[in-house]
Amino acid sequence: MNPMKVSLPKHMTCDFLETRLMIMEVPGAALELGCGTGRLLLSYLAAGIEVDGVDCSKDMLEICRAKAKINGQDPVLYDQYMQQLNLPKKYMTIYIPAASFMLLTEREDAMEALKSIYAHLEYDGQTLIPLFIPKHLFNNKDDEWAPGLRGTRSDGSEIVVSSKSNINFLEQIQTKLERYEIVRDGVLIDTQYSTTKMRWFYKYEFLMMLEKVGFHDFSIYGGYSLQEVNEDQSFMIIRARK
Ligand SMILES: C[S@@+](CC[C@H](N)C(=O)[O-])C[C@H]1O[C@@H](n2cnc3c(N)ncnc32)[C@H](O)[C@@H]1O
Repeated sequence: MNPMKVSLPKHMTCDFLETRLMIMEVPGAALELGCGTGRLLLSYLAAGIEVDGVDCSKDMLEICRAKAKINGQDPVLYDQYMQQLNLPKKYMTIYIPAASFMLLTEREDAMEALKSIYAHLEYDGQTLIPLFIPKHLFNNKDDEWAPGLRGTRSDGSEIVVSSKSNINFLEQIQTKLERYEIVRDGVLIDTQYSTTKMRWFYKYEFLMMLEKVGFHDFSIYGGYSLQEVNEDQSFMIIRARK
């Protein structure tokens, strides 16, 4: 079966290089939380990084295992929630790509995830947590469909994704309604919808959360670089040590 070909938005692709460099700076085993189908995990393994994965979706892990098998890889994968980790091993790096930490929309879950990460890090280990503030949506009208990913499915049909977002400034929650239109030979043959909620965190709020759990030695990188974040950037990678 041919995989679906898609063009990913920048925030989904660009933590690849930065995260990899930061993992390699701290030698030892790494753990990816929300590893999904192994987009990053399998390429990091291929690059010689010792990395295990956690995801709460059996389907995603199954695809990851199938892709790994084709590559001749045998990753250690756990079907667990990042806010309730119970793993037999500790790590020098625990990272969460693609801003997946923001999927923890309940504040208690976010704190529990940070505690779980802390408990599963070796002394002096690091965590890498990309986050973004959806500033680009702050002035959007939530009744307009914005164009998103497009791709070609294995049967040749096109999939066109568009989205509408609602922003709750008080609760810092973005609710995104996504529409998936399947088009074959120019004819719309199916439409499906999904809703995703994400919570955004501001810089000092997140540092206070990390401090509360016991982390120290914070760095915040901005944009898609290894430079310190500045006020114009809404994407950041937070790095903290145990
Ligand atoms: C946006 S995907 C990112 C996948 C992969 N890290 C990548 O960069 O391609 C988010 C992944 O996080 C997983 N996920 C969401 N909430 C989770 C949770 N609470 N605990 C563990 N995994 C979670 C989803 O199942 C999904 O595979």
